[in-house]
Amino acid sequence: MKILAADYILLMDRNFTVLENGGVVFDEKIIDYSDDVEDLKRVYQTAEVQYLGKNSVLLPGFINSHVHLEFSANKTTLNYGSFMTWLDSVMENRDELMSKCGDSCMELALANMLKSGVTSLGAISSFGKDMEACVKTPQKVVYFSELIGSSMASADALFADFKERVDNSMGKKGDSFFPAVAIHSPYSVHPIVLNKGLEVAKENTMPVSAHFMESPSERKWLDSGTGEFKAFFQKFLNTDTPVTDSKRYLDSFDGVNVLFTHCVNINDEELSKLASLGATVVHCPVSNRLLGVGKLDLEKLKNNEIPFVVGTDGLSSNTSLSILDEIRTALMVHTDLDLNLLAKDLLKGVTSIPARSLGLNCGEIKEGLDADLISFILPDVLSDNSTIASSIILHLKEAENIFINGEKIKWNF
Ligand code: BEZ
Ligand code: FE2
Repeated sequence: MKILAADYILLMDRNFTVLENGGVVFDEKIIDYSDDVEDLKRVYQTAEVQYLGKNSVLLPGFINSHVHLEFSANKTTLNYGSFMTWLDSVMENRDELMSKCGDSCMELALANMLKSGVTSLGAISSFGKDMEACVKTPQKVVYFSELIGSSMASADALFADFKERVDNSMGKKGDSFFPAVAIHSPYSVHPIVLNKGLEVAKENTMPVSAHFMESPSERKWLDSGTGEFKAFFQKFLNTDTPVTDSKRYLDSFDGVNVLFTHCVNINDEELSKLASLGATVVHCPVSNRLLGVGKLDLEKLKNNEIPFVVGTDGLSSNTSLSILDEIRTALMVHTDLDLNLLAKDLLKGVTSIPARSLGLNCGEIKEGLDADLISFILPDVLSDNSTIASSIILHLKEAENIFINGEKIKWNF
């Protein structure tokens, strides 16, 4: 049993409680916490006590809800600026990027996330090449095997490949590896195949991650079968009609625990549908900027009572997998929102809210939850404690201490 004592402890509960000069008691699970460390020492006399240092901050480990590890070799290969140009460059360079990213490339990506305090992640796997690294990593991984394929002609083969990858991941299921299902997008998955994929998720009570309304081109294609996707489908898939529309796509998710990634170009009717599904939105602000798709309207999500979480997306549309870099960008791009309130929502979006959406037993400092804990040192004393959330996002880069299931994580970078 251990007690970590810190100058500031963020419980990441609904009220955003911050304990000053407090302590957290844990073994594999969190046992207790208090703003009176001396009292904790009296009650838990056998516990080993560690003070994390001056200006220390202790939090539940961060969760990166959406990352494509298999694309981690990309630096200057893919074209940024416009979604369709980027997608063309993915189609052209995908095989080369895949072959450049072996186990060590993905292990480095996982280690860089860990460095920023990420103790759990949602990995979107296109090919299953990232499974070994995800099984081996100390972090908790919700491993989303992705289903793709708009052509009915190859539907059976694509579904069989998907099912084989899901079955392989189910063989590795464990305390920190959780198989799940990803749906690529409404434009790239035929509705018949989509329903088969969602059946797999329902049968196994798995969460589902699905891209939705990322670009204005996707909006136009699904609404009217026109725009830039027409030429794309003619060139790569020998067709020029969409396989579904957004209503049919969203209706398929009834009864599924689903996270929709991006939603930058979503309309009001779709937002109401997301609310009735109890869905979560995954916000990837860096990816959205680099692919020129626009900016997610966080106020509209709030008005519809739709929770949001944050993901880095992959290095295919980012330069960093640090979740702190990602929420720092979010703080900068939402210029219309109050800085300190947004900072609190962003911290919730990388802790308590994704834990609930991904079905993980962590994300808060609360009795009975897994002891996934991270600590940092702020560069100076906080003159106003009400700015702690923005100070964390603005000033912190690397975790000082990381515990997962109560085990201290040591790493070599
Ligand atoms: C498809 O497999 O149908 C597809 C893949 C990528 C983008 C669009 C469609
Ligand atoms: Fe993605």
